Amino acid sequence: MNKIATFGLIAAMLAFSLPVFAGEDAPYPQIINIDGRNCTSLNGQWKFLVDPYKLGYHNYHQVPHSDAGSFFADRSFDDDRTKLIEYSFDRAAELRVPGDWNTQYEKLYYYEGNIWYRKAFDFAPKDGMRYFLYFGAVNYSAIVAINGKRVAKHLGGFTPFNIEVTGRLRDGRNSVVVLVDNTRQKDGIPTDNCDWWNYGGITRSVKIVEVPATFIRDYSIQLDKTVLGKAKKGRKPQPEVRRIYGQVRLDGGCNPVTIAIPELGVNATVIPDANGVARFEAKARPELWTPEKPKLYDVQISIAGDDVSDRIGFRYIETDGDKILLNGKPVFCRGISIHEESAHNSGRITSVDECRELLEWAKELGCNFVRLAHYPHNEDMVRLAEEMGLMVWSEIPAYWTISWTNPATYANAVNQLEEMITRDINRCNIVVWSVANETPVSEARTLFLSRLIARARELDPTRLVSAAMEKTRKGPNVFTVDDPLLAYTDLISFNQYQGWYSSSLDDCDLTSWTFDQVKPVFISEFGAGALYGNHGPVSERFTEEYMAECYKRNIRMMEERMPGLAGTTPWVLKDFRSPRRALTGIQDDFNRKGVVSDKGEKKQAFFVLQNWYSRLKAK
Ligand code: GCU
Repeated sequence: MNKIATFGLIAAMLAFSLPVFAGEDAPYPQIINIDGRNCTSLNGQWKFLVDPYKLGYHNYHQVPHSDAGSFFADRSFDDDRTKLIEYSFDRAAELRVPGDWNTQYEKLYYYEGNIWYRKAFDFAPKDGMRYFLYFGAVNYSAIVAINGKRVAKHLGGFTPFNIEVTGRLRDGRNSVVVLVDNTRQKDGIPTDNCDWWNYGGITRSVKIVEVPATFIRDYSIQLDKTVLGKAKKGRKPQPEVRRIYGQVRLDGGCNPVTIAIPELGVNATVIPDANGVARFEAKARPELWTPEKPKLYDVQISIAGDDVSDRIGFRYIETDGDKILLNGKPVFCRGISIHEESAHNSGRITSVDECRELLEWAKELGCNFVRLAHYPHNEDMVRLAEEMGLMVWSEIPAYWTISWTNPATYANAVNQLEEMITRDINRCNIVVWSVANETPVSEARTLFLSRLIARARELDPTRLVSAAMEKTRKGPNVFTVDDPLLAYTDLISFNQYQGWYSSSLDDCDLTSWTFDQVKPVFISEFGAGALYGNHGPVSERFTEEYMAECYKRNIRMMEERMPGLAGTTPWVLKDFRSPRRALTGIQDDFNRKGVVSDKGEKKQAFFVLQNWYSRLKAK
């Protein structure tokens, strides 16, 4: 790409990376720690209408209806049968919220398109209070109306958004209507091709959040590890943890803010600046969070009229040469990759119990780390992993062949990155933000991703930033990673499938690796497929024996011929649905690389990995 074009692209990206202002077509800035607020749940049965031709949205010339003429109006044929009203939510069937629609009705299994959701509910808004309509996630796009008026739209299937509805809620019956469209978009994030099921719907919780006129909107409370202790004889000064710092952002006013962490004797009151941002610091010597002892502290943030409690851990993560350091000590990340799919019906996860089931398998494997692929998982999953002592790699779905030169695609990607980081900035167990997975190298792609990495570091300098890159051949049986993105990432993190996406298992024994840069090497995927209970010669693909042998040989290759290895998240914890897996009788719409089957059965490879991790743990 020539310089002018590149400059033009940067300019266009800059234009699109300006903050999205609240307004008719953009959600309000995110309110974090929703479960710590005063909420009314709208979860449960919602009425729905399938609308593949968007008849509820535009007329036969595709001219959009007015609010009153659209399904957003929530009218019904039965209101007045002398009128031509060709729809009625009251007469419609129901979908459970949260939940994907694909696994709720056989007729919706493959459905990709528009579905209207309607929730009718009684409410009694209080004078002087502000109200926000919160969605944990809607895949893929949402246009939201309340009491017949469109109020916002959102793009991106895996991050929360909230819309101010103060003054729009009625005393008595209210109606929320959401037009959801999960059609895959070439210019989307992800694009129209990926290896997971395109679960559509209101896939996470919906709530009405009640806050006072001036409220605590978001906050970030971090550990300052730069306070260096005294250098011990002949050693580098070790950071002595003595300070906690952070900021609290108010919305609607500038009341004094108090941050209290009773167990640490912290009780700081600060005056916000003119933008409602209160910056603080406090002396403290917290016990540092580790996978072995995942210490969390009760934190109370309060202003006149509002207060929020959270449980926050303190740790610091950095790299030193080819080591990942957690609290200054080298750590090997014994991980596993996880899709956000329930172990019961293989649909989107909708409960904490379903999160716990997956994370308990990870603990049983001996993991201290999970890669939540390929998109931000629900908040419960991250918080539960934090309590259970699991470090997290969290990722936006900039996956495979993204439209790198489209400014709207970049604006979408950076918005999803910002929503992911804003939501989880206080989750100490997240140690890696990942901006991409297996994206083909080009100048436009590296510019696009390096800008995302810069934005992640600007929002959050306390974590590692990387991506799942791909290997390149350096010589016969010698591989490396020479991706230009390595200039921007903290890890040499990449997916490699020697023994599966290569000609045979023997490739693992022949392959060696060499890296020009000295950074921690992190294998973000390796693995093989097998149908649980399918047994045969070790040379036969999709047998448990082949998969177990592939794990054994990859482990041997990593231990013996992969310098600087600091962690790995094998692909994948559980068999998951994907339309790319068509082999009848073996795949049947499932990617079979799970070490656990879609029925919760542990394959031989589970125990190979568990055995390796117990050896590593013992070291
Ligand atoms: C890729 C990709 C995964 C995919 C896996 C596979 O590495 O990152 O999303 O599921 O390979 O082919 O099973």
